[in-house]
Amino acid sequence: MSAAPGKLAVCLLTSEVAPLSKTGGLAEVTGALAKSLHAGGHDVRLFTPFYSSIDRAALAARPVPALEQLPLALGAHRYLISVLEAQLPGAGGAPVYLIDCPALYSRATLYTSDPDEHLRFIALTRAVFASCAGLNWSPQIFHCNDWHTAFAPLFLRTEYGQEALFARSRTVLTIHNIGYQGIFPAADIADLGLPPGDSRLLHQHDLAAGRINALRHGILYAGALTTVSPTHAREICTAQYGMGLDDSLRSREDALSGILNGVDYDEWDPRRDPCLPLHYDPDHLAGKAALKRRFLARMGLTTAPEVPLAGVVSRLAAQKGIELMFEALPKVLAKRPLALAALGSGEAKYEQFFAGLMRSFPGRVVFESGYDEELSHWIEAAGDLFLMPSRYEPSGLNQMYSLCYGTVPVVRRTGGLADSVEPYDPQSGRGTGVVFNDFDPPALEWALNTALDLYAQPAHWTRLMRNGMSRDFSWQRATGEYVGVYRRLTAA
Ligand code: ADP
Ligand code: GLC
Repeated sequence: MSAAPGKLAVCLLTSEVAPLSKTGGLAEVTGALAKSLHAGGHDVRLFTPFYSSIDRAALAARPVPALEQLPLALGAHRYLISVLEAQLPGAGGAPVYLIDCPALYSRATLYTSDPDEHLRFIALTRAVFASCAGLNWSPQIFHCNDWHTAFAPLFLRTEYGQEALFARSRTVLTIHNIGYQGIFPAADIADLGLPPGDSRLLHQHDLAAGRINALRHGILYAGALTTVSPTHAREICTAQYGMGLDDSLRSREDALSGILNGVDYDEWDPRRDPCLPLHYDPDHLAGKAALKRRFLARMGLTTAPEVPLAGVVSRLAAQKGIELMFEALPKVLAKRPLALAALGSGEAKYEQFFAGLMRSFPGRVVFESGYDEELSHWIEAAGDLFLMPSRYEPSGLNQMYSLCYGTVPVVRRTGGLADSVEPYDPQSGRGTGVVFNDFDPPALEWALNTALDLYAQPAHWTRLMRNGMSRDFSWQRATGEYVGVYRRLTAA
């Protein structure tokens, strides 16, 4: 089977996809892109590991007969891989192919620091080519995401591209998070399974330094590179944001573009959010106020409903700028009426900070450690402001959810935050949030105080909320831009 006339055959490779496996935005984005391409009539097929955490019975995946117990050799390592097919739940029938290999994907977490972490995803990448061959499917585009599948362009160039099925295939690499690069020791070079002689295509300087960097090879060999916002596309070409890959990115600058993520309105829409008992829209904001009252009671917050409520939903990692809050939040909480609801998990120092803040400001601060999808929707809906002071943010989804939910984002001007939140100008009444520049605590403190000053002026605040709620972040735009990238590659 191939795509309908004018439609594209797109093989989407990802280490996580919602709702099957998720640690962050990557899962939501690959799921939404698959759904949106499928709805557009493209022959999109998504390939991802069959982690042991995925509910097999609920998914009702069928084994693909030609793809059972395939041997895969990577250096000295031997695996047996099977491929199962299912429909991605909630994606309108878009197909997902699950790479089953318990030796690799039956672990306590999706990602590990085990010594074979690189092998887990080299195996995934090679299994995708084997699957396409077994399905006799010829993708026009292999769309890789992050370091996990970034070797696909190199493998296509060294081996698979010689096969008739893949001779015309082109590759796209989307960088969602440049902070994770898939670096492993050069001593493990055989694990790549490259044909003899082809190790000359590896980045020689890294090799000499004793390492192999998966993401760098995607950057060097993909036909097109994208990241998840235009501002971040410019940022990663600089030493400040390039995380050591800026030289390689600058060498491919012509191939690099930024496509801001979208919002999946089936999941995130205050008019019909299935996680919420009440709904609202810009002309009927009473539902939001009622949700806030319920939320305060549910979380044990004792502040009056008029007191502004700030929300945080985040992976607790250095990227997210939580350390700016260490100084800024206690100061602002001590001086002004403000409540805070934070949800997140990650590094201990950030969890300890929020837990300590909750003890220092009882009834005004609540922190839930862990991952809780339903609670994240409540925080978006019940909050008045939402804090994202990120050190870097390739796109960010929560600031866009916040805008849709009338929850005013307070963000640092970086990456996708800069591209999706427009600073509010009280003179013109334009803008959707509060934006600060410098990565330091006084800047965040200023932004919080500015937001609270605006909150105290209901005419401005309602305007801000409505401005944000009127913005369109639908996936249609982003999908159109990806299709543009695919078409330019296939036409070349
Ligand atoms: P990143 O991918 O860098 O973590 P994004 O803003 O792109 O950042 O996406 C994060 C996604 O993960 C959002 O949908 C957010 O709501 C969700 N999320 C993060 N932490 C939690 C948590 N503790 N509980 C529920 N959802 C979370
Ligand atoms: C990454 C980024 C985040 C982005 C997400 C999905 O994890 O940190 O900014 O929204 O990927 O693209």
